[in-house]
Amino acid sequence: MVEYASVDVDLTSKIAPATEHWKEIDRLREQHRFFWNSHGPGYWVLTRYDDIREAFNTPEIFSNRSIVATDPNPAYRFLPSFSEPPQHMKYRHLMNAWFAPAAIKRYAPRVAELARQTIEPLVPGGRCDFIRAFGDGFPVKVFLLVMGLPLDDADFFVSAVHRMSGDTPGHPSDMTAWDDIQNYWRLMVEDRRSAPRDPSVDFVTHLSRCELDGEPLPDQDILDILVTLTLGSLDTIKNQLGWCFYHLATHPDDRRRVAADPELVPSAVEEFLRAYPIVGMARKVTQDIDFHGCPIKQDQMVLLSIPAATRDPRQFPDADKVLIDRSPNRHIAFGASEHRCLGSHLARCELQSAIRQWHELIPDYHLDTDEQLLAHGGLISLRTLPLAWDV
Ligand code: HEM
Repeated sequence: MVEYASVDVDLTSKIAPATEHWKEIDRLREQHRFFWNSHGPGYWVLTRYDDIREAFNTPEIFSNRSIVATDPNPAYRFLPSFSEPPQHMKYRHLMNAWFAPAAIKRYAPRVAELARQTIEPLVPGGRCDFIRAFGDGFPVKVFLLVMGLPLDDADFFVSAVHRMSGDTPGHPSDMTAWDDIQNYWRLMVEDRRSAPRDPSVDFVTHLSRCELDGEPLPDQDILDILVTLTLGSLDTIKNQLGWCFYHLATHPDDRRRVAADPELVPSAVEEFLRAYPIVGMARKVTQDIDFHGCPIKQDQMVLLSIPAATRDPRQFPDADKVLIDRSPNRHIAFGASEHRCLGSHLARCELQSAIRQWHELIPDYHLDTDEQLLAHGGLISLRTLPLAWDV
């Protein structure tokens, strides 16, 4: 009989003191190369960097039929996330150029301007909840900019994302927001089919002109792509931004270095992505397999714990230390397979812009509370981040 560890740990919805989620993941990784998590429906968890990279790069076994550990048979379809070779690459070819480094470079000045415009009104107040005052609005405006849509629609997305993530006090996760997001995009696709815009600026028009296997890209595919982009881009940036500023607010030496030397910002961002990793991705296994001793059965889900991998001391010297000039830094916060994050260059541009612009306007700030900050599991996220500065 194969021996393996079975652990009951809530990796999806627990609320805990700010950095406790990572401490728990670090503990689990050092105790177990892999374990069965009996919490909820049950799934395997891989915890070591090398194993996770290997699983990401074995798509014929670790498939993308589902990427949510607790949901092996999803009723929804994220695209291109749920597609597999060879279809997956065909979808990526329709989108890669839009989010490639050269394209994002062209947006960078506008992204910086949007960051500045969001920060400037905050300066005289001397305090804010960073998550609400900056994290909510800025990524939404950048998203609309890149999609070629009017920034006036920002309020709709801010409110929908709040409702979905259960952020609004007194309101648990409200899945009707998902329907609202779908409806927004359904109407947009209909509109662009009947009244196309410039396909070099308007992403929906671009998609509506794309072909897949010689046929027009179906409306349902376009819709699934747009919903995936919305869900994949807004909450992720908001929460990663929260951890960047949490670190800088609580580590004055790093904050002073970043404020004095903007050239440090790119490597600091990479280190925040490594040390404060917010997402894990799952795979559905296609056949019975013994994976380095882990006895996985066909159709079981496996969580490839990116947070455990990017903090693995076997890969990163001083993994538990945040070194803002760390080099090399082969983190996998954006994944490590052909499904690697489509928006990684945009994400980097947003995170770097936000840090540069903020420190030009507010170089010196600190946490504005003596109370323990709380973070949510799943997408590891701070609920609030109260900051204060002298005016
Ligand atoms: C800090 C911010 C972000 C983080 C940490 C992040 C993380 C990730 C990770 C780990 C994956 C890999 C999934 C896998 O292998 O299954 C992924 C995929 C993806 N991300 Fe991001 N992401 C971020 C921002 C964004 C943004 C801004 C966009 C939109 C422009 C985006 C769109 C996507 C899409 C469409 C995929 C699916 C790619 C595919 O399946 O081919 N993400 N992201």
